[in-house]
Amino acid sequence: MTSAVPWSDPKFRPGYLTRTPTANSAESAGVTKAVKQRFNPRPMKVLVVGSGGREHALVWKLAQSPHVTQLWCAPGNAGIGKERLARTGGPVQCVNIGAEDLPKLVAFGLEQKVDLTVVGPDGALALGIVDLFQSRGLRIWGPNQHAARFESSKAFSQDFMQKHGIPTAKSGTFNNPVAAKHFADSLGGRCAVKADGLALGKGVLLTGNVEEAGSAIDDIMVSKAFGAAGQRIVIQELLEGMEISLHALCDGRTAKLFPPAQDHKRALDGDQGLNTGGMGTYSPAPFLTDAELAAVGRQILEPWLKGCATEGIDFHGLLYPGVMLTSAGPKVLEFNARFGDPETQVYLTRLENDLVELLEASIDGTLDRIQLKWSECASVCVVMASGGYPGNYPRGKIIYGLNEVEHLPNTKVFHAGTAMLGGDVVTSGGRVLGVTVWAEDLAAAKVAAYDAVAKIRFDGAHFRRDIASKALR
Ligand code: AMP
Ligand code: GLY
Repeated sequence: MTSAVPWSDPKFRPGYLTRTPTANSAESAGVTKAVKQRFNPRPMKVLVVGSGGREHALVWKLAQSPHVTQLWCAPGNAGIGKERLARTGGPVQCVNIGAEDLPKLVAFGLEQKVDLTVVGPDGALALGIVDLFQSRGLRIWGPNQHAARFESSKAFSQDFMQKHGIPTAKSGTFNNPVAAKHFADSLGGRCAVKADGLALGKGVLLTGNVEEAGSAIDDIMVSKAFGAAGQRIVIQELLEGMEISLHALCDGRTAKLFPPAQDHKRALDGDQGLNTGGMGTYSPAPFLTDAELAAVGRQILEPWLKGCATEGIDFHGLLYPGVMLTSAGPKVLEFNARFGDPETQVYLTRLENDLVELLEASIDGTLDRIQLKWSECASVCVVMASGGYPGNYPRGKIIYGLNEVEHLPNTKVFHAGTAMLGGDVVTSGGRVLGVTVWAEDLAAAKVAAYDAVAKIRFDGAHFRRDIASKALR
């Protein structure tokens, strides 16, 4: 770490950062032994569904749990396959089943008698993986298909927000382009035009005038740029302000809010270029005081919980509202019904609770008995992507330097699009790695994260150089 450590600050607790457990460290085994003796953890076999950076972070954190005796990830990636369990020292196993191959996943769960399945991606949730597993008597964490509509239908979410008084943008939902254009005109063409259904995070077009809005509506509804997802669209007024990611773990009755994080959705520095799945995150995002965060949480989550109760929606999982902090107060841009990617990478490197226990409480409706505990570190995740992403990109590029970074303190390289080819780790997706560093403050975490990024190389690699800059201005 190149920034100065505040040794003179009496609040600084030496050793605190390096004590953050990692699944592979001997130290973590020591921590686990103590925890084991105290809590007599129940042995559990766990399956994580998905293959991205978010799932690597989930696996990494679950592997630290003294409960976990076996851990699979379907389909996983090269980094996930290298994790080991703190309790047994045994390896995490990648299983060659796609995240949306529900029949094979449920057969695997039954065959292996999996005690808990944890779902990462939205696609599997929208297809009803939770309902299917539950119908076969398998315990699974995530919202059911009905509850997952908060993400799988923007029209549903928008209607819900309006009905239940959740602050959001002025908007309309349309099944035909003529009415849609009329509404866009009434906003002077300054709109967010959104395909109703799931579109790999790409189904939103931002427009600045009437002509752009008209072409965006035609692209989605007439040319079907996002396929069936765009049969219906939502148009929102264009909001200005600082955008943050909120996460709340929910159990049907209680929603526990995480600290705020900020993602960087555009491909290039200064929020230029195309929208991506997310090029980097950091947490905490310092745009709200604790009191303001609590107020924002209340404004969004209280009516949301009441609305769910009124409409018979039993949401056990993670609610991720994308929020714009506007001059007229916070406004929800969208709801996701899963952990964010790459928000999870910064959250789980700060979370001090046992993740298994949190997810179990989210399933059982006992979150009110649990207090979320966050380390005082700041965490920064810089995504390294394939050249060309979010457009077309090559695969199979050898990644160099991972071994060098593995030994850096308070650093974890979460794999997203990687695979093993012979003995090499190679690129296999658009977002390749999430280089994540935690430190005593954001400035130090940012410097160290970019020091680590500089040691990793692959042909065509690109990354933003301004992750966390907005917070440091
Ligand atoms: P969504 O998938 O709905 O979160 O939209 C993707 C991105 O588009 C968001 O992260 C925002 O950066 C931007 N966006 C969405 N809706 C709006 C809006 N109403 N005003 C301004 N920007 C928006
Ligand atoms: N961080 C963006 C997303 O997970 O949708």
